[in-house]
Amino acid sequence: MLFITSDLHYGADRLGDAAVRKMAREMAKTGPDDIFVVAGDIACDDLRFKLCLELFRAVPGKKLFVRGNHELWTDGREKSLTRFHRLADEAERYGFLCLDATNSFQADEYTLVGAMGWYDYAYRDHSLGIGLDSYERKTFPGHPYPLWNDALMVDLGEKDAAWTNRELRRLEDKLKLLESRTRVVAILHHVPVDGLLPPPTPDMPEDVRFARAFLGSPEFGRILCGHPGTKAVFCGHAHLENSIHINDIPFTCVGSDDERKMLLEYDGSDIRRRVFQT
Ligand SMILES: [Fe+2]
Repeated sequence: MLFITSDLHYGADRLGDAAVRKMAREMAKTGPDDIFVVAGDIACDDLRFKLCLELFRAVPGKKLFVRGNHELWTDGREKSLTRFHRLADEAERYGFLCLDATNSFQADEYTLVGAMGWYDYAYRDHSLGIGLDSYERKTFPGHPYPLWNDALMVDLGEKDAAWTNRELRRLEDKLKLLESRTRVVAILHHVPVDGLLPPPTPDMPEDVRFARAFLGSPEFGRILCGHPGTKAVFCGHAHLENSIHINDIPFTCVGSDDERKMLLEYDGSDIRRRVFQT
């Protein structure tokens, strides 16, 4: 069985932390052939990142994770990308393989491929009429501070579109290494298809419609649909539980939020969702 969770954000919410601990106790009861994957946003600082991974020490099967935008967060004393690369190594000490830092991981019945993904503002709500410069500053027009904290906590050294393009090429290269008949299960942090997000409507607050731009890029979904062996795709980042099919491929957003943590169970065909909360 493949177990997938995401957005644990350990240390951010007392109830959420209790839910993570409850999930860890359940995961410790799984078998050595089971696989556990965290689809990004483990915690926003190193101490909590390590505390969170330590909770899963007793999980007997293979443990993997994909880095999320929070794994790029830094207070400025360390470069985002330095932390990003360092956390892949740190996690190994806790028995977690960084899936997005490797080409793939071979499980019995499928091959796991990971990517952080990123955003290129393609999901923005065009009806707001907001210019690209506001999206680049991640700041709602007229507001003094950024709405999306990546603006303050992440410095990639290049524009979001360029980083997204880099991530797309990395994913494409990983898939090219696999034979076309390889059964691929992809795990991303950011949202790879627009259909997993609720469509923006006029009754939604404008800041929510603005933030939609920072949730992902449909180019990741396009690449994954282009690989003939793609069997399932999972993502985190949007704290919304949702699943859709595109070309018979299930795309599923894990949907953990601040207080409730989701654990998906995938047996190669069906996806079951378990909710952990206090
Ligand atoms: Fe995220």
